Amino acid sequence: MKKGIFITVEGVDGSGKSTQVRIIGDYLKEKGYEPVLTKDPGGTFIGDLIRNILLDAGNRGMHPLTEMLLFTASRVQLVMEVIKPALEEGKAVICDRFIDSSVAYQGFGRGMDIDAILEVNKPVTDILVPDITFFLDIPPEEAFRRKARGAADRMEREKEDFYLKVYEGYKKLSSMFPDRIKTIDASLDAEGVARQLKAWLDKILAFDKA
Ligand code: TYD
Repeated sequence: MKKGIFITVEGVDGSGKSTQVRIIGDYLKEKGYEPVLTKDPGGTFIGDLIRNILLDAGNRGMHPLTEMLLFTASRVQLVMEVIKPALEEGKAVICDRFIDSSVAYQGFGRGMDIDAILEVNKPVTDILVPDITFFLDIPPEEAFRRKARGAADRMEREKEDFYLKVYEGYKKLSSMFPDRIKTIDASLDAEGVARQLKAWLDKILAFDKA
């Protein structure tokens, strides 16, 4: 597969991912890359339909296994339809969330077997893994305070202890994969967070061109 760059951004809800995804896209464009910004779940017609089922606050009865499979289904569609073709064309794909979200939310948050999650996601990981993942590190209570409050979706209606487990899960993941997952202090303002990301990107891009 011809190699573009695949970057993912992770963190608890309200950690400021979508702003930083845009900033990374602009920065890579400045550096001469062709950025493709996308998000998981969603990012395709079918993925957006699945995303609506997942986030609909009315779907309270959703079984955790159904939830995990639907997140994976949306991701498979995104990889096949958007991410893989873009990387093959040498583009820089920046994705808001990816498989680490399933491990953090369904694995650590809901207590599902992590090996089972990874197994179901194997058709995806066999094709690609992110070159780099930025974990925007901010405790959930602080992230939630910042989040512009519209109506809470199904995931956002989870209790505080669920989000603490998700957050701890992210921290464990980053210590398990320190080469891939870079922890970013996301308690700073958007500019301060962006500065850290750009410093990492400079290192990675230098390596990419070497
Ligand atoms: P979204 O509106 O994209 O949230 P955010 O803006 O915080 O990223 O909704 C995605 C929600 O789905 C979010 O609560 C995280 C959750 N999620 C999982 O539980 N598992 C997954 O595999 C993914 C990709 C997301």
